[in-house]
Amino acid sequence: MQDSSDRVANANVLLPARIPGGTNVPHSSPRLIVTSPTGGAGRTTLALHLAVALGAAGHRTLLVDLDPNNGVAHALGRGDRTFRGVADVLALDVAPSQVIVETRSPNLALLLRGRLDPIDVAQFESLLSERGRLSSMLGLVEAQYDRIVIDAPSGVRSLVCAALAEGTHALVALCADARSVRALSQTLRVIESVQKRDNPTLALAGIVLTRVDLERASSQSAVGSMWEGFDCVFESTIPEREIIAKAWESGVPVGHLGAEGAFAARRFAALAREVEDVIAPANQPVEHHVDNPRPFF
Ligand SMILES: Nc1ncnc2c1ncn2[C@@H]1O[C@H](COP(=O)(O)OP(=O)(O)OP(=O)(O)O)[C@@H](O)[C@H]1O
Ligand SMILES: [Mg+2]
Repeated sequence: MQDSSDRVANANVLLPARIPGGTNVPHSSPRLIVTSPTGGAGRTTLALHLAVALGAAGHRTLLVDLDPNNGVAHALGRGDRTFRGVADVLALDVAPSQVIVETRSPNLALLLRGRLDPIDVAQFESLLSERGRLSSMLGLVEAQYDRIVIDAPSGVRSLVCAALAEGTHALVALCADARSVRALSQTLRVIESVQKRDNPTLALAGIVLTRVDLERASSQSAVGSMWEGFDCVFESTIPEREIIAKAWESGVPVGHLGAEGAFAARRFAALAREVEDVIAPANQPVEHHVDNPRPFF
């Protein structure tokens, strides 16, 4: 029987760590699709903090929530009907520019999921999955942004494929546990298939290990097998920290929690620098847009 390290090695042959030429794509701004093999992996936490860090680094960043469960608004302490967003653009033909929410976090704007009755989720997913739908929505606003970070659903749902079909880079949030490592090959298979069928310019930006707790043997072993089996794992990992959960409860990014949150915020900033090395369009100098931070809204 195959042991888990064999499975990891086999998953690795599915696709190269970096797709050659993948960073030179026709969209005006890199569109980073954040997905994960399993739910609860810290994907929304990652997408939000990466977007905050990219903004703080001077890139005008738009964080888009395509996940029907409305994770970004929840992470920011808001309810399901607080913000208009993607669902309103789809259902009511509202212009995306009218529903984008500016934040006081430097260079960061949000296109949230919007107001969606849970019973309409299937329709939301099917509209968003129509070929070109996401691109035409983002095309109306993306000239104003240097980086677009998309919080996509987890698993192998059709909406994940639809988002990947219109992205420039896939970023996989991999929770450091055996279950997620086992499910990774499914996500990689989906990415590979989208690259072949729909979007040859899609690149795998890399895999981010999330919720890492090196005190736990299972987490340690997941991290070890990933380091051993893959060369596209970012060096910066996201640790499991009480303060990150507390930020979620407080409805702010962790960097807004003062000195206590500074360590975690730095981890996301280090990760953002690594991600930036992969997604930055060739020969494009970074313009730094400086703004005053805090509070968030
Ligand atoms: N690194 C971390 N340390 C501590 N808690 C975390 C960490 N990452 C995420 N969490 C907590 O775990 C919960 C789920 O996180 P999050 O919503 O980011 O995951 P998700 O992968 O987006 O979940 P879903 O699949 O439901 O969308 C939240 O309460 C969040 O605060
Ligand atoms: Mg989420």
